[in-house]
Amino acid sequence: MTKIVWKAGTLLAPVPPALISCGSVEKPNVMTAAWTGIIASDPAMTYVSVRPSRYSHKLIQESGEFVINLTTLPLVKAADWCGVKSGKDVDKFKAMGLTAKPCAQVKAPQIEEAPVSLECKVKSVTNFGTHDMFLAEIVAVDVDDRYLDEKGKLWLEKAGLVAYVHGFYYTLGRKIGKFGFSVEKKPKKSKEKDFEPQKKTIKPKISSHKSKNTTKRHRNLMRP
Ligand SMILES: Cc1cc2nc3c(=O)[nH]c(=O)nc-3n(C[C@H](O)[C@H](O)[C@H](O)COP(=O)(O)O)c2cc1C
Repeated sequence: MTKIVWKAGTLLAPVPPALISCGSVEKPNVMTAAWTGIIASDPAMTYVSVRPSRYSHKLIQESGEFVINLTTLPLVKAADWCGVKSGKDVDKFKAMGLTAKPCAQVKAPQIEEAPVSLECKVKSVTNFGTHDMFLAEIVAVDVDDRYLDEKGKLWLEKAGLVAYVHGFYYTLGRKIGKFGFSVEKKPKKSKEKDFEPQKKTIKPKISSHKSKNTTKRHRNLMRP
């Protein structure tokens, strides 16, 4: 394998095309940010890197609050649009048919249509050249109860989350493992029905003259 060395860049992928809502429920704004992530779990800490020229930058700096809303397939057009239009010029919530819903712990609005919204309070702002990094504590998490089962377990894979890779949006592929599966002693049969390997694979066309062994080999190759 030959790898070509490029100059320093930001080619981390996939990243979330997250919808960052800010302002107030009465006067909400939303921008898209790919440069956001988790820093620590306890306390739950996050960041979002925002160019000072963004209208959202001003709103987040003034209020010290923002909300990270996860983007799904039905929201991907809004995510792209909110990432190219400014709240300086247009009410993006109205234009995209989004609902600004009050949060539990911050005055910034969450997007009702998002399956998960992380309510954040800014702890510090650090400039890194082109962007300011808002370091923030996640003070509450709002989860759409449609994705919770009767035991309160979250089935986030049902939400249709979207990833952003090098300029393009993608839906997620099939589930291929769970945390720690590589070190499990015996591959246990999962109780989660979605975790079962797909049974309905396309059957290879095997003509009658082929041996049983060939058929078996084909079947193994088809296994996910
Ligand atoms: C997929 C995507 C990811 C983006 N990520 C960021 C980001 O991480 N930081 C940033 O400052 N701008 C980012 N942008 C650009 C802003 O969302 C865009 O400038 C937006 O119009 C700002 O809106 P505002 O002026 O209402 O704040 C991204 C845009 C897209 C489409």
